[in-house]
Order: sequence, then C-alpha cells, then structure tokens
Amino acid sequence: MPILKEGELDIITHSAEQTARLGTRLGTLLLPGDVICLSGDMGAGKTVFSAGLGRGWGATTPMSSPTFNLVHQHARAKDDVLLYHLDCYRLKTDEDVESIGLEEILGPRSCVVFEWPEQIEPWLPPEHLWINLGIMEALRRNLVFKANGKRYEHLLNEFRGITYG
Ligand SMILES: Nc1ncnc2c1ncn2[C@@H]1O[C@H](COP(=O)(O)OP(=O)(O)OP(=O)(O)O)[C@@H](O)[C@H]1O
Ligand SMILES: [Mg+2]
Repeated sequence: MPILKEGELDIITHSAEQTARLGTRLGTLLLPGDVICLSGDMGAGKTVFSAGLGRGWGATTPMSSPTFNLVHQHARAKDDVLLYHLDCYRLKTDEDVESIGLEEILGPRSCVVFEWPEQIEPWLPPEHLWINLGIMEALRRNLVFKANGKRYEHLLNEFRGITYG
C-alpha cells in the first residue's frame, strides 16, 4: 500500500515488468523541463524504470543503459522535445561533469532522467522528482518517490491518481 504523505510515495514492485509499468505511467505525465533522478544500488532497476518511462513519454528509440555513452538523447514524433538519459556513475571530478554540457541538457525543451544522480548532486536543479530504488529480494524492489518543489508535488499527485485511481 502507498504511504499517503504529501510529496512522497512508497511502492513495492514484484517484477521488472511492474517497475517498467510505473516508469511508463510517469513518462506519460512528463512536461518539458522536468527532471527525474533515479538513485539506488547497481541492479536495483533504474534502467528498467527508464525503459518504461521512455515508452510512456513516446521515445522513438528504446531507453537502454547509457553506461558507456553517459548521455543518450531521445526524440518523439509529436513535438520537438528531447528526452535525455544520463548515467552519472562514472562522473568523478568537476571536469568530468563539466564535459557533459549539463546547461544544454537541462533546457526548457527537454526532459531529463539521471541514473546515479548523487554523483552530480551539486549540479542538480534544486527542483526535481527523486526516486530511490531499493533491492528487497530477487524480484522485489522498494520505490520511494520524493517531490522537491511544487511542480513535482503536482506530478506525484497525478502519478498517484493514475496509479491508484
Ligand atoms: N521488481 C523489479 N524491478 C526492476 N528490476 C527487477 C525487479 N526484479 C528483478 N529485476 C531485475 O533487476 C535488474 C535491474 O537492472 P537495471 O539495469 O535496471 O539496474 P540499474 O539500477 O540500472 O543498475 P546500474 O546501476 O548498474 O545501472 C534487471 O535484470 C531486472 O530484470
Ligand atoms: Mg542502469
């Protein structure tokens, strides 16, 4: 059961498909400028969630793991908004972070999904939706959503609405 608290949501999933479906729901609700942070251990399901999110958003290319490219850019048919998917795991120094061009990525006409956002915490916009994925068992994951800022409280309320009716 979800914990009902303003700006927070706690969900347990029992399969990768269920985690991806949550991502898909969130993807349908994103607006240009939105920033989603996916934290959690290796194998927790950040990329699984992202793949679903990309489908919901309407990405014309699949959201696979950006581990080796660091930044993946996706487009969709209905408008010229871009969806950026970053894996920040390897970003260690200020120079590393500066080399990826965050100012361009974090524009008003783009949606951004960060895996390993804690690696770039000082550069993150203060307002964002933070989702922590925790491994409970082989197929069980705990997803904790935290809204930072009014836009993300609204987004989380909408997400709660379409998830629980
Ligand atoms: N409930 C679940 N939700 C999501 N993934 C699950 C679940 N149960 C099992 N899995 C499995 O866990 C793995 C999650 O892998 P994924 O690449 O999404 O992790 P990640 O958090 O992106 O890791 P990394 O930090 O290495 O990028 C997949 O193999 C997936 O099938
Ligand atoms: Mg990943």
